[in-house]
Amino acid sequence: MSDAPQGTRPDPQNPLDQIDLQTDRPHSARVYDYIMGGKDNYLADRETAATVLADWPGLRTSMLANRACMHRMARYLTSLGIRQFIDVGTGIPSSPNLHEVVQRTAPDARVIYVDNDPIVLAHARALLTSTPEGRTAYIQADMRSPESLLGDPVLDDVLDLSRPVAVTLIAVLQFVEDAQSLMEAIVEPLASGSYLAITIPTGDLAPESRRLANEYTRRGIPMYLRDRAEVERLLTGLEVLDPGVVPMPRWHPAPGDEPLADTATNMYAAAARKP
Ligand SMILES: C[S@@+](CC[C@H](N)C(=O)[O-])C[C@H]1O[C@@H](n2cnc3c(N)ncnc32)[C@H](O)[C@@H]1O
Repeated sequence: MSDAPQGTRPDPQNPLDQIDLQTDRPHSARVYDYIMGGKDNYLADRETAATVLADWPGLRTSMLANRACMHRMARYLTSLGIRQFIDVGTGIPSSPNLHEVVQRTAPDARVIYVDNDPIVLAHARALLTSTPEGRTAYIQADMRSPESLLGDPVLDDVLDLSRPVAVTLIAVLQFVEDAQSLMEAIVEPLASGSYLAITIPTGDLAPESRRLANEYTRRGIPMYLRDRAEVERLLTGLEVLDPGVVPMPRWHPAPGDEPLADTATNMYAAAARKP
């Protein structure tokens, strides 16, 4: 297998050639992309994907369910009147992205995307296809420095932080050791009436999925699983919306959806409001 992204040839005009993508080691965004059927991944990512899928074959189902949950959360928050979003840990674009979901019903919605992986930056153009009434922007930042993320001038330019925003942290908190401090730092400057929406891996639901967390960690992508009590603690001081911290498929399934079994994903989902 070649080490080039699947289906592409090296191209001097390609922005990927201008950025050090560290293709010799796996990156979480690219492993996810590969498992979801994308083409923006390299040999090290595909080898990691093969191993973690062998550890837990349910991973692809869980990832697809995660993306579907992100769509439901985006629609739900839009239905509550939210028009400003910060999506932290966006990943390689995969349509529909969050702004496409929310702008379908709220064309004036504004969305800031944030990721720290250079490959996401290289593909950010696909995230900047806003409606004329709305706006999207991309910030290359590490969420482990929330003050530099929230202090970024692009954020101030696009959003009005004196008004409610929704911060979505979808399948990303597993990459942070001290998620509690991160959540507190993110919530602190937000206006009252803002929302937080999370999906987060756990070892509670599909115990065999714990093996894949060990494998990610062994391959240089430290991954931290949280039990339900830890997830609830992350939302301390916020008003958790119904149905609470639940196995992801149970979070507001779409009408007519036959929710997956609790053991079919390794993730909890929850949304909460800042009083
Ligand atoms: C599993 S993907 C999830 C993508 C998307 N949120 C979704 O659920 O479809 C995790 C993403 O988080 C990003 N990420 C990991 N650690 C990060 C950090 N410290 N700061 C910002 N982004 C991070 C990765 O680069 C990757 O794109």
